Amino acid sequence: MRWRRDVRQFRTDTVDEALVTECLSTLSLAPSVGLSEPWRVIRVRTDAMRLKAIENFEAANARALQGYAGERAATYAKLKLSGMHDAPEHLAIFCDDATDKGAGLGAATMPEMRRYSVVGAITLMWLHARTHGLGLGWVSILDPDQLTRDLDVPEGWHLVAYLCLGWPKDVSLTPELETKGWEARAARLHVEDR
Ligand SMILES: Cc1cc2nc3c(=O)[nH]c(=O)nc-3n(C[C@H](O)[C@H](O)[C@H](O)COP(=O)(O)O)c2cc1C
Repeated sequence: MRWRRDVRQFRTDTVDEALVTECLSTLSLAPSVGLSEPWRVIRVRTDAMRLKAIENFEAANARALQGYAGERAATYAKLKLSGMHDAPEHLAIFCDDATDKGAGLGAATMPEMRRYSVVGAITLMWLHARTHGLGLGWVSILDPDQLTRDLDVPEGWHLVAYLCLGWPKDVSLTPELETKGWEARAARLHVEDR
């Protein structure tokens, strides 16, 4: 877990197909509300579709930069916030908000639990990938509506994550945002009794 890291610096060599499949299959081991298993994966494989996703990121990142000024803006501009150019695998992970599976148990009162289930599943896959030496990077500087339209997914699917998967250039115990002076891990545990 200390080693997990969000990775944005990838080598470009491919990942064996069996290993990609093995990582993806760990999603199905995750807990999910009502056993709804709402995770849906789109492997973004064509150059054309990847280009759309990269352009989407670049536009969103330029807009995000406008939200900072001074030192913060200068630091932001130096961050590498996606490994999309180099990562051999791009995975768009959706939540099927319209699934019948689980018959609404839990999700009837808290529909967001389906999406939380998808996040939990991604975390399992992330840790599993790391045990094989693979790195995973979560890209959220994107226009989700545009990406969802571009990927032409079924009605009711909601984008949870755009993930890059591949071999990391290096291994570190320190988050990249910390190394680059953006934010440091406080490892503060906030617990209260009532
Ligand atoms: C939901 C989520 C979205 C994230 N989105 C981005 C992102 O768009 N770009 C980025 O560089 N890192 C992103 N990250 C990675 C965080 O910056 C990273 O987890 C944090 O700095 C701690 O580093 P570590 O994961 O290596 O411990 C995201 C992480 C999570 C959990």
